[in-house]
Amino acid sequence: MASISNTTGQIIRCKAAVAWEAGKPLVIEEVEVAPPQAMEVRVKILFTSLCHTDVYFWEAKGQTPLFPRIFGHEAGGIVESVGSGVTDLKPGDHVLPVFTGECKDCAHCKSEESNMCDLLRINTDRGVMLNDGQSRFSINGKPIYHFVGTSTFSEYTVVHVGCLAKINPAAPLDKVCILSCGISTGLGAALNVAKPKQGSTVAVFGLGAVGLAACEGARIAGAKRIIGVDLNSNRFNEAKNFGVTDFVNPKDHNKPVQEVLAEMTDGGVDRSIECTGSVAAMISAFECVHDGWGVAVLVGVPNKDDAFKTHPMNLLNERTLKGTFFGNYKPRSDIPSVVEKYMNKELELEKFITHEVPFSEINKAFEYMLQGKSIRCIIRMEA
Ligand SMILES: NC(=O)c1ccc[n+]([C@@H]2O[C@H](COP(=O)([O-])OP(=O)(O)OC[C@H]3O[C@@H](n4cnc5c(N)ncnc54)[C@H](O)[C@@H]3O)[C@@H](O)[C@H]2O)c1
Ligand SMILES: [Zn+2]
Ligand SMILES: [Zn+2]
Repeated sequence: MASISNTTGQIIRCKAAVAWEAGKPLVIEEVEVAPPQAMEVRVKILFTSLCHTDVYFWEAKGQTPLFPRIFGHEAGGIVESVGSGVTDLKPGDHVLPVFTGECKDCAHCKSEESNMCDLLRINTDRGVMLNDGQSRFSINGKPIYHFVGTSTFSEYTVVHVGCLAKINPAAPLDKVCILSCGISTGLGAALNVAKPKQGSTVAVFGLGAVGLAACEGARIAGAKRIIGVDLNSNRFNEAKNFGVTDFVNPKDHNKPVQEVLAEMTDGGVDRSIECTGSVAAMISAFECVHDGWGVAVLVGVPNKDDAFKTHPMNLLNERTLKGTFFGNYKPRSDIPSVVEKYMNKELELEKFITHEVPFSEINKAFEYMLQGKSIRCIIRMEA
């Protein structure tokens, strides 16, 4: 393996897990990784983890298939070299790649209220770099596509500088790598958007990784009662470690779950956070908040043809409906401070990490997720 010092400007040959076809196991191949171009950074990945979004696009059932491709978007790594124009990162810096970026120049980046960068907002159909419309990965001259600008299932990857959060070098990358996507999304949905008050009651719909991170956020904010809602009752045991005090399975009741929650809470919850992707759960999550002050936050990604239907009176009665993307965090400006929350023990990450595999066994991480066994599986690049 080439060392960090003598590879600047050179092509690096390294191992990457290539998805050749939808739904077929990844194959570890030797790939060529071209040097970074203007505003790009080449990163040595040390740890990566698997998120549902990788699995959805690998299965490519409802999504545009783009193969061969290198997936992966939750990771921690070290800068190997930088392209022209990159001034705020240098070789040796510790970074987390993020699937959505922050150019610091567009109207969204300049707004305090938005993290939806015009230039670097997530684009799941683009498999190439912005600078020249080409891939930096190839095998025998044949291009291999990128995924959401990160492609972290490779020992080296090339990422736009705007999609890299520079973090405290003392932070253990095998833990904080999970802050690249799902965990920050749920945490930010609670801390930045729902903002529950001390002592309040919060309902979280969907107790997958994102929902459990929302529970963790509600706990950090000082919520007294956290009601987990999931169609799978097995989720409750695990959820107790994330501060969930009560559990409701909508299937156990013969009335809408919003009515069950209203009865449990004397009129409705103070905040609700939906992390399922089911439009029925989104409507319940909105209708279960207390009139006068309740706030509901949608996080899950719905199906293409879904429509949200509720009586306008539910809004007139002073309920608020919000949605969030990546927990409203700006990747470069805000993620370093989320890492600090972990460093000062305000935020626990270990409990999200249920499995760990070496890179050579990356397909096992897919199996754990598909079997519903894992919250997060860490993939170690070096054996
Ligand atoms: N907005 C964003 O920026 C963002 C970022 C990452 C993920 N997401 C989305 O967040 C959602 C959750 O992601 P995840 O990885 O935790 O998923 P997951 O599949 O691990 O968890 C979802 C949970 O919801 C439960 N569920 C499904 N339908 C339900 C219903 N009607 N009522 C109650 N529970 C129900 C499932 O049983 C499951 O436990 C997904 O839709 C994902 O696409 C959004
Ligand atoms: Zn921008
Ligand atoms: Zn993700």
